[in-house]
Amino acid sequence: KVEKKLDVVCLGAAIVDIPLQPVSRDIFDIESYPVDRIAMTVGGDAMNEATIISRLGFKTGIISCIGDDAAGHFILGSCAKDHIDTEGICIDEKIDTSMNVGLVTGDGERTFVTNRNGSLWKTCIDHVDFNKMKQARILSLASIFNNPLLDGNALVKIFKEAKKEGMIISADMIKPRLGETLDDIKEALSYVDYFFPNFDEASLMTGKDKVEDVAQVLFDCGVKNVIVKIGKRGCYIQNKEGTMIVPAAKGITAIDTIGAGDNFASGFISAVLQGKDIRECGIYANCTAAVSVQHVGATTGVKNKEMVEEMLAKYHSDYGL
Ligand code: ADP
Ligand code: NA
Repeated sequence: KVEKKLDVVCLGAAIVDIPLQPVSRDIFDIESYPVDRIAMTVGGDAMNEATIISRLGFKTGIISCIGDDAAGHFILGSCAKDHIDTEGICIDEKIDTSMNVGLVTGDGERTFVTNRNGSLWKTCIDHVDFNKMKQARILSLASIFNNPLLDGNALVKIFKEAKKEGMIISADMIKPRLGETLDDIKEALSYVDYFFPNFDEASLMTGKDKVEDVAQVLFDCGVKNVIVKIGKRGCYIQNKEGTMIVPAAKGITAIDTIGAGDNFASGFISAVLQGKDIRECGIYANCTAAVSVQHVGATTGVKNKEMVEEMLAKYHSDYGL
């Protein structure tokens, strides 16, 4: 068995986001279009998760693929700042780091310009450093379907290796990009200990419209703990002990829910590492997400563990726990 140097390794996308705001629909009628601010931030589900889990106090690594370019080096710099182990990042000089240029109108309508040949699309199982992966206690597959080449078959190979090392496996998902279906990932799901889809994505994939039915279908695929995120209602959990709803933090004004799901997963994983029971894991996840949605950006809200602990204390008092 490989020595456990890390608590968690996050596998998935590390990209650069460039949000442009505000723009109007007539952007092409104007020669030089002024916006209030153009900033570059790191993004991608694995990058977001690794950042938050590290800030919550755990030794975190990332497994991803980037190009040998300015965006790639920006990602490495951000990892260094947040004390994320980057030995599992594959730098492939043949590909460009994925960048996501977001155009957002004054009333919140958005469209994204992405590179169809970027690292997100090119990441495949050959980029996955299995030795690095095995150094962690938990493997977080940041989002099923986000890197299309990490398909159901690739995930089965990765998860089998992780399970040989006794790792706990968690996974989130996004909407399929290439029309993949539940059947394509059914076998992979049977290795997953904690699965965090949000209701809309899971409803589309399972063809069910009630959260109880959605969770049941996923549980029947062999997921040990199904945790369906239900937005401002919190999350719905099903495992072999039964089902429960863990309500969201009260009195939260959500100003930006981008990355809420990544923060939720990060909080949940951190709570598992603290040895909390499943309900407390759900509460910790909701509290982490609640801090996040009160700030613009995926990794701007949660700056340290104290912010989540403060939200947690308020949660317990609000619900009389
Ligand atoms: P995703 O970001 O993946 O679409 P959701 O929108 O369901 O997922 O949100 C993720 C989590 O963020 C929820 O499970 C909840 O804990 C938290 N959350 C979202 N909106 C609110 C809100 N208005 N108040 C409190 N918590 C919220
Ligand atoms: Na998500």
